[in-house]
Amino acid sequence: MRTYIKDLKDFIGSTVSISGWVDVRRDQGKLVFMDMRDMTGLVQGVVLPNHTEAMDQIREVRTEWVLTVTGIVNKRPERNIKEGVLNGDIELEITGIEILNKANTPNFDVTSDGREIGEDIRLTYRYLDLRRPRMQKNIRNRHKLAKFVRDFLDKENFIEIETPILTKSTPEGARDYIVPSRLYKGTFYALPQSPQQYKQLLMASGMEKYFQIARCMRDEDTRGDRQPEFTQLDMELSFVNKEDVMAINEKLLIELVSNLYPHKKIQEIPFPRISYKDAIEKYGNDRPDVRNDKNDPDSLAFCWVIDFPFFERTDKSDNPNTEGEWTFTHNPFSEPIPEHKSWVLEKKNLADVLTTQYDITLNGYEIGGGSIRAHEAETLRKVLNIIGHKDDDIDKNFGHMLNAFKTGTPPHGGIAWGFDRLLMLLENEPNIREVIAFPKTGEGKDLMMESPSLVSDKQLKELGISIDKK
Ligand code: AMO
Repeated sequence: MRTYIKDLKDFIGSTVSISGWVDVRRDQGKLVFMDMRDMTGLVQGVVLPNHTEAMDQIREVRTEWVLTVTGIVNKRPERNIKEGVLNGDIELEITGIEILNKANTPNFDVTSDGREIGEDIRLTYRYLDLRRPRMQKNIRNRHKLAKFVRDFLDKENFIEIETPILTKSTPEGARDYIVPSRLYKGTFYALPQSPQQYKQLLMASGMEKYFQIARCMRDEDTRGDRQPEFTQLDMELSFVNKEDVMAINEKLLIELVSNLYPHKKIQEIPFPRISYKDAIEKYGNDRPDVRNDKNDPDSLAFCWVIDFPFFERTDKSDNPNTEGEWTFTHNPFSEPIPEHKSWVLEKKNLADVLTTQYDITLNGYEIGGGSIRAHEAETLRKVLNIIGHKDDDIDKNFGHMLNAFKTGTPPHGGIAWGFDRLLMLLENEPNIREVIAFPKTGEGKDLMMESPSLVSDKQLKELGISIDKK
């Protein structure tokens, strides 16, 4: 039976078998030492000269070979004890080795933190890169974060609902990734930039409290805190106002920090709030870094940014979503603040209209954003008119939303967190690629799978697509 390496301390004096990878091997002539690694940790093993068969076997093995090792768990002599290290006080006296798989010399060291290795090679051999302890920790903590969030929201009576990946282009502000339809040549699905419309339609369906750990795709320039494909913690609630949504999110963030990252300190609770206008004036941007001490890696300075302008004048050169004079700053589905609603309905004072949008920032990064939504057809239509959509185009593209609103849709609102960004900050990583198992490069490539890639002429023909090779 296999014993996990973390449990070896419970087997002192017994013979056990462990399975895993050769982390390091040190041949000292008479003695050969070998550290073995599994998902639970590391242990030092040694072959003594009297175990001649094991001695022959261990001389052959190399790092990253996969073995089952049998041995006796011994206490280390006092002078060899390493305090504060897993298995620092025990050693496995190896009596037998079974080779499960040999390995080529690894392309790079997987025992270091990897920061000294070029990222392209790490991403080309990502499966190997993920073996390093830092990456194991990041990916395992990602699971813990997702589980904590799920458990918390489940207790609060939210349910997780999956929404389609093959969907329709929605005006989220970035370029869509599109997928050609074979059955309906010349038409396309779009990959979701977020589940925004679906989650609102789920409110029309009476689900009341929805969440999803949702994959989102946006064809935009990649950078350290941006990936073409990323994960949101997405939620939507019915019968709520701005304060309700902010309160439950604040509670969730505080609880997850105190449970999963107890060594970290939240600078200020309740989280401070700043208006968009003040943020721009004081910090020059709308994701203010409000940390008192920027050198402390364990300081978490959350801050809400509120009172954003709803509309801004269009820069037609770089906005694919609008033809008109005005565009939305965040989300066309938002409700204006109650005091300014009549301005939207009457299409006046547009530059001064504030939205119910709330963004949450952490140490200078925008980690989430949401709003209370328009739930009446008239408000949404007016907003869409203002940003340049004609009525028939609105009926064509947003008819499902307007119709849903007319079937009895409750007031609702929500938020989405950049799950990767939050984890990056909690793990003190410099970019989100370090907390994603298989990220794309800065140039949007998957170097391991060599994607994007060409497809066959047959596939193109079936789709009725020809490529302009110029
Ligand atoms: P928004 O577009 O602000 O809102 O996205 C929510 C959060 O997602 C993160 N984020 C990203 N993370 C990594 N890579 C990207 N390319 C990327 N783009 C965004 C950010 C951001 O705060 N539907 C609305 C939410 C709502 O209103 O409920 C939306 O998607 O941390």
